[in-house]
Amino acid sequence: MPKPPKPICTRAELEAIQYLAMPIQYKNQADTAVVFIFDGHAYAYINRCMHMQKPLNCEQDAIFDDSLKFLRCSMHGFVFDPTTGTCLSPVCYGQKLQALRISEMDGAVYFTDKHVD
Ligand code: FES
Repeated sequence: MPKPPKPICTRAELEAIQYLAMPIQYKNQADTAVVFIFDGHAYAYINRCMHMQKPLNCEQDAIFDDSLKFLRCSMHGFVFDPTTGTCLSPVCYGQKLQALRISEMDGAVYFTDKHVD
């Protein structure tokens, strides 16, 4: 039997902030997700940069660069395509943040990823 979707917040709440960081269980391990709206769409990723396994917001309360067009890890400044999680900086170029499946229903945003509890 499929798991019920896990509520995150309302779409309006997410639109009012730059991002939401929330604790989750991912593959039965404690982890943190970042959820945000970009270009009208909601996205979610595990909050862990592939470079040195740091949260994107580890040094600064932000996950976007100044242009608000790219995700940015505040540890060493690597940037990522917010729509795919792909790293655009040397060293980790082409590697991806772990995307989490989410969906929207009736004005609310939910995790629908089978690995998220
Ligand atoms: S840990 Fe993210 S850029 Fe180095």
